[in-house]
Amino acid sequence: MRNKIVGIAGSPRKRGNTEKLLDWILDDAAGRGADTEKIRTSELDISPCIECGGCLKKGLCVIDDEMQDIYDSVLGADWVIMAAPLFFMNVPAQMKSFIDRFQCIWAKKFVLNKPVRDDDRRHRGLLLTVGGTKGTTMFAGIDQLMKCFYSILDIEFDREHSLYYRQIDARGDIEKHDTARADALLVAEYISAPLEK
Ligand SMILES: Cc1cc2nc3c(=O)[nH]c(=O)nc-3n(C[C@H](O)[C@H](O)[C@H](O)COP(=O)(O)O)c2cc1C
Repeated sequence: MRNKIVGIAGSPRKRGNTEKLLDWILDDAAGRGADTEKIRTSELDISPCIECGGCLKKGLCVIDDEMQDIYDSVLGADWVIMAAPLFFMNVPAQMKSFIDRFQCIWAKKFVLNKPVRDDDRRHRGLLLTVGGTKGTTMFAGIDQLMKCFYSILDIEFDREHSLYYRQIDARGDIEKHDTARADALLVAEYISAPLEK
């Protein structure tokens, strides 16, 4: 069976560094037969979570906007790839709004005690991120967020195959990086391989 890979491009900068990393992976994975989908958060017409409590009754978000088409894609994927640069040590606001809209899954799981999804397949997730600066702890915040996001969605966060690059700032910097493209292609190969259950 073909692996379903859903990539979330979280930078507002089109064809920026993190989107490039994502495209390298999605294009190569598609060439290897994977079923790929890309979502750009800054092109979605979505509201942030308004903490209305509507999801506490059924575990479904009651805001009627483009997020409604996205839940099944993300929850059904074998691999989810979150691609986002550091903005003030974490993800850009567009991606944070996207993430917060999964509060309905938190409600389904922890308030209503229902399973997140019906299938028993493995679901795994990656992070692709860059920052303009350098520092040993600069990715601690985004890592914490991804750990939380993936854990609520019952997605295993595969940190080992996630990609982190420091001192990548201007658009196109990632293309000049010594190993980034090759790293991305290795990830594509890994996530296109048939998944064991
Ligand atoms: C609003 C804003 C906040 C940023 N905050 C950080 C930061 O906290 N740490 C960092 O290393 N780089 C920071 N940067 C730099 C970006 O992470 C960097 O330019 C990155 O390459 C952008 O990736 P993109 O092309 O995928 O958008 C920030 C950039 C912007 C525009």
